Amino acid sequence: MLLVACGTEERLPVGGTLALIPAPQSVELKGGEFYCEGVLHINWPEDWDAERAVVEGWWQQSGVKLSPEAPAGLSFEWAEEEMAEEAYRIEVMSTEIVVKAATASGLFRGWITLRKMMPVVCETGCGAGFSLPACTLEDAPAMVHRGLLLDGCRHFQEVDFVKKQIDLLALHGMNVLHWHLTEDQGWRIEIKDLPRLTSVGAWRKEANGSRHGGYYSQEEIREVVAYAAARHIEVIPEIEMPGHSSAALAAYPELGCTGTPLEVPARWGVFKDIYCAGNDSTMAFLETVIDEVVELFPGPRVHIGGDEAPKVRWSSCAKCQRRMKQEGLADEEELQRWFIERMGRYLAGKGKTIIGWDEILEGGLPQGAAVQSWRGMGGAAEAVHLGAEVIVSPTSHCYLDYPLRSTDLEEAYGFNPLPDSLAHGPGRILGGEGNMWTEHAPQERVESKVYPRLIALAEVYWSGPQRTAAPDAYVDFLARLDAHYPRLDALNVAYGLESPPFTLETQAASNGALSAEVVALGRGVEGRGIWQGIGTDADSISAGSGFVVSGPGEVLMEVGRRGQWTGQKVSFPLDGHDAVFRPLELSYSPSPWYTGGGDGALVDGKLGSADFRDGAWQAQQGEEMTATVDLGGVAVIDEVGVGVYLYQDAWIFLPAAVHWEGSPDGEAWSTLARIAPGDVLARDDRQERMSLRAVVRPGAPQVRYVRMTVKNAGVCPDWHAASGSDSWIFLDEMVVRIGA
Ligand code: ACM
Ligand code: ZN
Repeated sequence: MLLVACGTEERLPVGGTLALIPAPQSVELKGGEFYCEGVLHINWPEDWDAERAVVEGWWQQSGVKLSPEAPAGLSFEWAEEEMAEEAYRIEVMSTEIVVKAATASGLFRGWITLRKMMPVVCETGCGAGFSLPACTLEDAPAMVHRGLLLDGCRHFQEVDFVKKQIDLLALHGMNVLHWHLTEDQGWRIEIKDLPRLTSVGAWRKEANGSRHGGYYSQEEIREVVAYAAARHIEVIPEIEMPGHSSAALAAYPELGCTGTPLEVPARWGVFKDIYCAGNDSTMAFLETVIDEVVELFPGPRVHIGGDEAPKVRWSSCAKCQRRMKQEGLADEEELQRWFIERMGRYLAGKGKTIIGWDEILEGGLPQGAAVQSWRGMGGAAEAVHLGAEVIVSPTSHCYLDYPLRSTDLEEAYGFNPLPDSLAHGPGRILGGEGNMWTEHAPQERVESKVYPRLIALAEVYWSGPQRTAAPDAYVDFLARLDAHYPRLDALNVAYGLESPPFTLETQAASNGALSAEVVALGRGVEGRGIWQGIGTDADSISAGSGFVVSGPGEVLMEVGRRGQWTGQKVSFPLDGHDAVFRPLELSYSPSPWYTGGGDGALVDGKLGSADFRDGAWQAQQGEEMTATVDLGGVAVIDEVGVGVYLYQDAWIFLPAAVHWEGSPDGEAWSTLARIAPGDVLARDDRQERMSLRAVVRPGAPQVRYVRMTVKNAGVCPDWHAASGSDSWIFLDEMVVRIGA
């Protein structure tokens, strides 16, 4: 603020803040302040060279000059007394700041906290000087493992982007980058002895014909690992096995059970073709990969995945079955344990321990493995009971790729990684992660998903659940976050929102049309927008004021946040048709997971989006769905329609048929229209909303009641992963249009 006001060489030093995230264990304000006129001397400790280069780099860009003659000083010192691994103490006095720790990592964490005490403007330039409140600050992390999983496979990220994320991890006191480097949709790490892994496995053809991919050369990996090491971030590579391995099988089909050539898939999901556990050359292949991986990552741990590995190929593979017999393994789950244990032994021979997702518990805990619990906290409880070390990142709180309506900032902050139920057993919770899977996030969208939710998790893991679960802790966190956002702005972090920005409310307008209002949610959110479609009384729309529509279209709202328009747009598709908010009767109870918002959802005017979990969809599994609406008086019907969803991988099929009938009295019915979308059981890769519409034949009688019967497609067909299970039908709106 002061800078803006003065804006000259004469400007006064600006003061720093103690609004720190993560919250330190203790801060004692001393009164008075440290004052630096733009020149500083720094005393460096021995054996801290890589860190020193990082710290000096920061001061250089800050514009503050470093000179041994400067009156103001900053000392980094080794503590004489015992201090925990990452613990540090900062003393800010009038002309001197001392950062003390017993370890290089502690000293670095202390530096980062000091950096956050500095005025935000120092991130871009405070050469004219600055001041800091005098204080004594003592701190240490509650948990030893505090990480981000970054999926570099579903979408590839540039090296510079990865380094920026490492900087941001360090800024928030995190110490692990869990780097997901192999996947179905792309192999991202150069293995010199297996060149096809990257020449073939790093590239995929997208549905639109374009090519997506990329990989990290070994030189780039070393560069990233060194960059992280200087910031005390351990990079844990994840090399997935035995599942999520389609890209490797595309490169070397003989590694799979069937040997059938396949392409690097461009679809998301879980694939049946996995590494063959019976094939010795597959084991040799993985050992070659490991040989090169351990040379690149000096850390003590390698993540071997282990999640979502369907066993169908193994159960019909002669080699896998022979292996099970030879090894005395009862089933394919035990074969997975054998597989992981074998790789674990190989890695142990290289001085490494392994981490696997909680599925590795299914055939018995592989010896020496740490477990990362993601399907809730059950795996964590079991692993603690069995004596394993555990990392927690359950989908309930830690999946940063999930939309804000599933996990908003407050839910992330409310995560308890150390519930009492897990306190029993010889194992130990090391800490947790935030998981950023990138199916739906190309690089430019990643930061908007990761931040600010990861900052909440960073405080949970560093400051500990005892602190973050205290009354008013979240309110206090938000106040500090508000002080922190400008620093993220200065660092060009494209952080996202804290919660969904808007909700849409609809009700019946007095003339039978549809009245709608966009309601702003969350802190500091504003909205402005337009109606793109037919029939409205509003030129422009703002959050908080209602408008009326009498036809189909969408409200397109721009998100404003903290006084700025972000350019981010949110769309609400709507249809002000002639049956909105008329009495409706259903032949079924909607699925409790997909009610669409209640029994009247099919005539609430709200259409579903391209995301079937958006709350606007009403669904049923295996049943015919019949809905009858009372228009309140007889009319000639022009058109009928229904919005349906198609996503066969999620068991959602098009209806086999839709039949609309009309009746003047609710007793005698005649057909208005009928649609049968064709061979609905044929494989179809689309994942989208579709409108099924039918024009009513001219001359049809006047009706008061319209009855829509939507016929289910039946069971999932033979080619489907859920073959034989009932398919789902998803509907968003039953549309009726009356003639003019
Ligand atoms: C996972 O999300 N499949 C670990
Ligand atoms: Zn096999």
